[in-house]
Amino acid sequence: MKNYSYGYPKKISLILVITMTITAIASAQQSYNNFRPGELWLDNNGVHINAHGGGILYHNDTYYWFGEHKTEGKTGNVALVGVGCYSSKDLYNWINEGIVLSVATEGSDSDIESGCILERPKVIYNEKTGKFVMYFHLELKGKGYSAARTGIAVSDKIIGPYKFIKSFRPNAGIFPVNMTETQRNFTVTSEDIKGLSSSEKDSIIAEGLYVCRDFKTGQMSRDMALYVDDNQKAYHIYSSEENKTLHIAELTDDYLDYTGKYYRIDPAGWNEAPALFKKDGRYYMITSGCTGWRPNPARLLTADNIWGPWTRHPDNPAIGDDSETTFHSQSTYILPVQGRENTFIFMADRWKPQNAIDGRYVWLPIEFENGLPVLKWVDEWDLSVYDQE
Ligand code: DGJ
Repeated sequence: MKNYSYGYPKKISLILVITMTITAIASAQQSYNNFRPGELWLDNNGVHINAHGGGILYHNDTYYWFGEHKTEGKTGNVALVGVGCYSSKDLYNWINEGIVLSVATEGSDSDIESGCILERPKVIYNEKTGKFVMYFHLELKGKGYSAARTGIAVSDKIIGPYKFIKSFRPNAGIFPVNMTETQRNFTVTSEDIKGLSSSEKDSIIAEGLYVCRDFKTGQMSRDMALYVDDNQKAYHIYSSEENKTLHIAELTDDYLDYTGKYYRIDPAGWNEAPALFKKDGRYYMITSGCTGWRPNPARLLTADNIWGPWTRHPDNPAIGDDSETTFHSQSTYILPVQGRENTFIFMADRWKPQNAIDGRYVWLPIEFENGLPVLKWVDEWDLSVYDQE
């Protein structure tokens, strides 16, 4: 009896411990079979995915999601860690591959010193060099959003470590291909437009005020996307000219620099958060307006040629309830789903500026109506939605 009463609880405790461990492992390795926009999205360790303002590269049958690694609280929007990466075979379940580009230590005086602002990292693969190339929007530590630079890092392996190469403002000393001779010789200065109405200012900005102002030092480069075309030519698309005008700039064959050919899109149209895709030979770009961390209605631009003309459509591609805030989110990337023709996922961030690490992801299927992409809210969905079209 003594043995019985003493031994059995011990066995029970053991069973309990094993059961609890199995449950803990099972919940940490929760497996998803659908997308739940706006919900917590746990990785293989049971931790909410930390890859904000991200982009995806498909390589060797695997999706790799790169994004800003945020930290707790309001200061979490500043880069204290670096760029994180996750991998997935099915797009629902993600394995944390760790930090692939680390910020430099404090006091190192590096452009990417801890405390800088490092946003919207995107990675592309260069077939000729076999290198993985990362571009990001960089703001130097302690300088707010005034630096407006492009940062470039490179790695031999997709999951890094990436080596920071340089940061700068693109296309110094070069005019965009679509600025006329008159615009290139613009003599109006920022001083001259003080006191004008915003629409008067915008029309002068549209003529190229800031391109001329920044001609010598290079063009401002903030919210950004990378796009690799079918012929492997790569382009960097970024909000320039004080966020008033998007530029699309061609990259060199090794993707490590600009060729100097660039084009202004929607001059003075105030676009941020560009995300691009191509369908049946036509380019589509979804952007947002410029309202900081607060969401606003999405915009749609299209072009039959990457070098324009780009047309901005009057309607918000998001439709239905909450479309005026793009479902409380801002575009970051448009993912072509592998193995399915003309199948695209709209990826957006639901920013949480008060607690950056808690930012959520809004992924929605892109539908087409009357030849144009539309975004509709769904609480839960999976890739079979594309089978129903
Ligand atoms: C909006 C941009 O899209 C974000 O990436 C970030 O730069 C915030 N503005 C900062 O206010």
